[in-house]
Amino acid sequence: TLLKIIDKNNLQKALEDICSVLYENISYYNWVGFYLVDKEKPNELVLGPYRGEPTEHVRIPFGKGICGQAAATGMTFVVQDVSKETNYLSCSPKVKSEIVVPIKVDGKIVGELDIDSHLLSPFDEFDKIFLNKICEKLSEKFKE
Ligand code: SME
Repeated sequence: TLLKIIDKNNLQKALEDICSVLYENISYYNWVGFYLVDKEKPNELVLGPYRGEPTEHVRIPFGKGICGQAAATGMTFVVQDVSKETNYLSCSPKVKSEIVVPIKVDGKIVGELDIDSHLLSPFDEFDKIFLNKICEKLSEKFKE
């Protein structure tokens, strides 16, 4: 299972494998990646492992775009229609919606899971709960 993948591997491998499993198995997850808080610049996110098309957004300051807002607030962001979002960084015109789930250690954000979809409004409560569970489990790895 996904939680076992996280248990058995080191952080880097766990992040890579989670990207692959989500990307390959959930048809409306069209870009799956992690942004990690930069240790030298703690107000910036750096792109980590991902699956899908390369993105120009390799570094994102806190507050910018959906990823930056999730990092700044520590909240999960579900944007069912990115065309309605003013603070948004586009990676591809194909992307219609996005969900960003923060990963926290002792209440502090260390990274986040970012998923783009080519569908409008594909995310429901189950996606939110399921992805939050993955991020909670990953948080243990960040502590190691
Ligand atoms: N759309 C994001 C930027 C990252 S890409 O989706 C990979 C945002 O608005 O923060």
